[in-house]
Amino acid sequence: MKKILITGGAGFIGSHVVRRMVNNYPQYEIVNLDALTYAGNLANLADLEDKSNYRFVKMDITNAVDINQLFKTEDFDAVIHLAAESHVDRSITNPLAFVMTNVIGTVNLLNAAREYWKDNYVAKRFYHVSTDEVYGALGETGMFTESTAYDPHSPYSASKASSDHFVRAYHDTYGLDVVISNCSNNYGSHHFPEKLIPLAINNIKNNRAVPVYGKGENVRDWLWVEDHARAIDVIFHQAKSGETYNIGGHNEWKNIDLIHLLCRIMDRKLGREAGESAKLITFVTDRAGHDLRYAIDSTKLQKELGWVPSLQFEEGLEKTVDWYLDNEEWLNNVTSGHYQAYYANQYKGR
Ligand code: NAD
Ligand code: TYD
Repeated sequence: MKKILITGGAGFIGSHVVRRMVNNYPQYEIVNLDALTYAGNLANLADLEDKSNYRFVKMDITNAVDINQLFKTEDFDAVIHLAAESHVDRSITNPLAFVMTNVIGTVNLLNAAREYWKDNYVAKRFYHVSTDEVYGALGETGMFTESTAYDPHSPYSASKASSDHFVRAYHDTYGLDVVISNCSNNYGSHHFPEKLIPLAINNIKNNRAVPVYGKGENVRDWLWVEDHARAIDVIFHQAKSGETYNIGGHNEWKNIDLIHLLCRIMDRKLGREAGESAKLITFVTDRAGHDLRYAIDSTKLQKELGWVPSLQFEEGLEKTVDWYLDNEEWLNNVTSGHYQAYYANQYKGR
């Protein structure tokens, strides 16, 4: 029996991690802590509401008093920490929100773990979920390994890099059992449509312009979100204390090639003539400080823990498109209200 606190479980990746842990480990008690920001959505976990080993707690990780009280009353065995501000464009507009949640929020959790776990560090585990963006940008060649020096460029990646450093510092200084994983770009169901793939699906569906930053030459390594959740499961259970693992899909795509593939899939799914959706592609002003290329070397995870990605990208993208077309109500709910104002502001005059 283990009681595990998962933070950010109402978000995109968090909801897949919560679902996997609740369904695969009925002997575990899963507590999902989430502040339900614009990115958090309990509809992502509607299928788990009746599960006896699942509970939701609405809480903000920037509130140290609440976090300490929770650790005092709950006696968690482990934390899997995903709660974060996660969108690079929002970090360019409002960096402080990223410092608050990603840095201060993470330190609040570490402090609570340090205080309430201190008599038994070896039996506890603090798993910090991070990003490959902490390593900075690659040129045309090369890949990020676990020993690549940190070189973040955006306020988002700087805040995640800072939180990674704090997690390692609590291991080295206080002996806390920590593990960190740094993953590439995820895609799949329940992805908030501020990020490239769900935004493009939503816009193509609604015959709206598909904004491609700069010339669309930037490269990302895409991984199916359920493969990420499986990697987190494997690392959580098998990694040695203090270890770091890179997680990636060996699946690099230039943004413009990815969008053309998506347009072809959408033409087929929506019964449009070939080439119709691609007419929506619109090149817009580039993102400030836009990282050229990310690519992950996940050899360590594959060799040591036997994890490999399960889905080919075309198959995963097709499944993802199907999910969005089948879940129109979810998409309409998250794109009404505040989203409209966000979108107008983010893309105006670009
Ligand atoms: P998301 O934005 O979809 O979800 C974040 C969740 O955290 C939301 O449910 C939100 O309500 C919650 N949250 C935000 N601030 C909070 C606070 N102060 N207190 C409590 N909860 C709060 O993000 P995601 O894409 O699911 O990313 C999850 C984690 O994985 C993040 O740590 C992110 O840095 C990391 N990551 C994401 C990707 C990716 O491609 N999306 C890739 C690698 C790593
Ligand atoms: P995004 O999904 O925001 O993830 P990240 O910035 O963390 O990699 O963006 C993926 C790529 O797509 C990135 O190179 C920026 C680009 N992009 C666009 O071209 N247009 C858009 O509207 C968005 C949101 C992103």
